[in-house]
Amino acid sequence: VRRVLSGIQPTSDSFHLGNYLGALRQWVALQDDFDEAYYFIPDMHAITVPQDPEVLRERTLRSVAQLLAIGVDPARSTIYVQSHIPEIAQLTWVLQCLTGFGEAGRMTQFKDKSARSGQESASVGLFTYPILQAADILAFDVHEVPVGEDQRQHLELTRDLAQRFNSRYGETFVVPKARIVGEYAKIYDLQNPTAKMSKSAESDAGLINLLDDPKKSAKKIRSAVTDSGSTIVFDREQQPGVANLLTIQAALSDRTVDELVAGYEGKQYGHLKVDTAQVLSDFVTPLRGRVDELLDDRAALEAILADGADRARAVAADTLRKVYDKTGFLAPR
Ligand code: TYM
Repeated sequence: VRRVLSGIQPTSDSFHLGNYLGALRQWVALQDDFDEAYYFIPDMHAITVPQDPEVLRERTLRSVAQLLAIGVDPARSTIYVQSHIPEIAQLTWVLQCLTGFGEAGRMTQFKDKSARSGQESASVGLFTYPILQAADILAFDVHEVPVGEDQRQHLELTRDLAQRFNSRYGETFVVPKARIVGEYAKIYDLQNPTAKMSKSAESDAGLINLLDDPKKSAKKIRSAVTDSGSTIVFDREQQPGVANLLTIQAALSDRTVDELVAGYEGKQYGHLKVDTAQVLSDFVTPLRGRVDELLDDRAALEAILADGADRARAVAADTLRKVYDKTGFLAPR
């Protein structure tokens, strides 16, 4: 069987446009291209930085509702919460013992995130975060992992660990590939169009949350940083803000950037912004409604997660048994 797997952290009330265009849109499409799809909410990754327990619980369920609203289908995909699969944490330990301290220290996301709080107060969990991510993937013998550009290095570590285990103990893990879609792999901050759109940016003026009021998002798009030129062309170097808006509008309207650019001949940035805001509003308006409806029936969401956990645990337990055996652990009786 060919499997696809990915995860998204429950660390805000709404997924943002970078999450959607960089990753989630691919998740939906790939449900049909693989025999099995595994999509999950990594709540254990979320606590590598401090979280309010009630808020975390609420956001976990909201995340599931958003996945369903976007089109992740529980009939075709296994949807689960990471902490419901204890085998992932168990596999993490084995993988941690195969990871070099220096190797973990080279992860750029750790360096960025720990610099924010100060190295000394960063948690050990933040340091070992990528190894937990490797376990998420390797527990399921996954072939491809659809993610944005910022996850590339974590996927490289995952591949290295899979190969290391296989060469030390014999063929065990499938060595997974990152699936990163070039044009959408990095959606940029509207105010700072050379930095990725991120919920942890200093200001949220450049961040488009899917569940925000589309009027609020339209305002952010109207104030997006462009540049001093006036012609609408796709030039990442010279006109990164315009390129970002073109990318966003093309993706949400299923047109190509070239088609859009041709239509904007002789027009100004204002036109591009108004149209992009409109296309966004057309996309998020029904989505917001569906998320509200789904959250009205929490028991139904919990039932989907219970079913997902059963299916996911069966696969992960099988992998863990093999790994424990090869590692040399005495089987319990
Ligand atoms: P997370 O929760 O930060 O982001 C979820 C997905 O969104 C992508 N993404 C972007 N893509 C394009 N442009 C952007 N501006 C942008 N911002 C975010 C991310 O690349 C990601 O694909 N460590 C992961 C979660 C994780 C995971 C896993 C992923 C845990 N275990 C196993 C895959 C497989 C993370 O923090 O993603």
